[in-house]
Amino acid sequence: MEKREELYAGKAKTVYATEDPDRLVLQFRDDASAFDGTKREALARKGEVNNRFNAHLMRHLAAAGVPNHFESLNGADESVVKRLEMLPVECVVRNRAAGSLCRRLGIAPGRELDPPIFEFFLKDDELGDPMINESHIVTFGWAEADEIEPMKAISRQVNDVLTGLFADASITLVDYKLEFGRFHGELLLGDEFSPDGCRLWDARSGESLDKDRFRQDLGGVIEAYEEVARRLAIPLGEE
Ligand code: C5P
Repeated sequence: MEKREELYAGKAKTVYATEDPDRLVLQFRDDASAFDGTKREALARKGEVNNRFNAHLMRHLAAAGVPNHFESLNGADESVVKRLEMLPVECVVRNRAAGSLCRRLGIAPGRELDPPIFEFFLKDDELGDPMINESHIVTFGWAEADEIEPMKAISRQVNDVLTGLFADASITLVDYKLEFGRFHGELLLGDEFSPDGCRLWDARSGESLDKDRFRQDLGGVIEAYEEVARRLAIPLGEE
C-alpha cells in the first residue's frame, strides 16, 4: 500500500496515511529510546526485526481469536494496519516481578505472579506515564466504562496465547505492554508486540532477550531480538 502524508512520528515508529482512509502504514525505525525518551540510539536492523516480529505475533494472535489492527506486511520495515482511534491508556500484564513493579512495591525481581498482575498506565511522556485505575479512566474519559473489561479480557487472552508460544521456545514472557483503539466502534489491539515492549528471559539462564539490554547497556540488543525471532521461527530478511 502506498504511503501518503506523515501523520505522527513516535519514538520508534512513524505513522503514515494511505489512499484508504481506514488504513495506515506503520514504519518501524531503527531508533531505540528508553526512560521517556531521555536515552536514544539508532540500532541497525531494529526496524526490520521489530516489524517482522510484530507481524508474526499479531497474525498468531488473530488466528487465536484476539482481534487486532494488523493487516499485512508492506516491505521489510513497514506494515499496513487498520486506522484506530487510540485510547491514551497502556495495559501492562506481569507474569514475573520486574521493573517498575519491584521499584514501586519492593517485590523481589523474578518472583512468580499468580494470578498475573494487570495494571493501567496513562500514556503521557510529560507526566512519566503514571499508573492509573479504572475510576480515573472513566472520570477523565480516557476510555468508555464499557471498554475497561474488554481491555482486561483481551489482555488476559493475549497472555494465555503468548505465554505458551514463548514457553515452547524456552523463553519466559515476564511482562508486556498493550495498547488498544477503536475501529468503527470495535475495540481492537493496536500498536505493536515486539521485544521493545515486553520482557523476555531465557527460560534456563534468565538472560534478558529484550529492551532491558538497551536500558541497562548490556550490548547485543538486536542480536538478542534476532535470537528470539530464530527460536519462534520468524523469518527475517524475506517476504
Ligand atoms: O517499566 P515497567 O516495569 O512498568 O514495564 C512493564 C512492561 O511494559 C515492560 O515489558 C516494558 O517494556 C513495557 N512498557 C512499554 N512501554 C511503556 C511502559 C512499559 O513497552 N511506556
